[in-house]
Amino acid sequence: MSLTGLFLCTFLLVHMAGNLQLFVNDQGLAFNAYAKFMTSNILIKTVSYGLYAMILLHAVKGILIWLYNRNAKGQAYAGKEKSDTRFRFAAHNMATLGIIVFAFIGTHMFNFWAKMHFTTMPVDTAGNKDLYKLVAEAFQNPILVGFYVVSMIALSLHLLHGFASGFQTLGLNHKKYTPIIQSTGTAFSIIVPLGFAAMPLFFFIKHVSGF
Ligand code: HEM
Repeated sequence: MSLTGLFLCTFLLVHMAGNLQLFVNDQGLAFNAYAKFMTSNILIKTVSYGLYAMILLHAVKGILIWLYNRNAKGQAYAGKEKSDTRFRFAAHNMATLGIIVFAFIGTHMFNFWAKMHFTTMPVDTAGNKDLYKLVAEAFQNPILVGFYVVSMIALSLHLLHGFASGFQTLGLNHKKYTPIIQSTGTAFSIIVPLGFAAMPLFFFIKHVSGF
């Protein structure tokens, strides 16, 4: 869980940073060129297949652990009674939050990734598939925007517990470094989902305000 989870965190950071190009005021030229590079470079394509496998592995293993814990309920803990976790709500609802994020990824890939890979799309002035237009138009829908914002709250909560917990599971427990990992995890869990949520909100506000 920890290795796949931490790999997915790296993907989130790269995906969010790359998508920041949606905010560039160039009719999407930079974003479309970036998307073309990300989907045609053989090395990145190979990493992408690894990514799909990691998402599935993380989800399946998460469900198995959840089922195991559910069946073990009622039995006494071998160790300490109370968890000393900092984000109790998130820690106790990791499976539910994970299912929301997984459903989000499915909808998200259907909306963008599948359309980019399996449909004929209009191209921009540089001849690249106009993914920017697809994104900008999709985020004119308030229901989709709401779904993205709620999903990013779930992602944030999932990460608030998951990030630091991933390091702890790997045995990286250190008096000096653990607080650094915890605060990095907290910052990551807030900044990355906030960056993602800003994208649908930006296009929706742009659409309704007419700017
Ligand atoms: C909210 C802002 C987001 C936008 C505008 C966005 C946009 C896109 C676009 C346009 C694609 C298709 C292009 C491509 O295949 O590279 C894509 C792919 C993808 N997105 Fe997002 N994304 C967002 C957030 C997220 C989040 C929060 C996750 C995960 C929790 C995510 C997971 C993925 C995955 C797994 C793919 C397929 C990547 C691949 O094939 O390598 N995205 N996204």
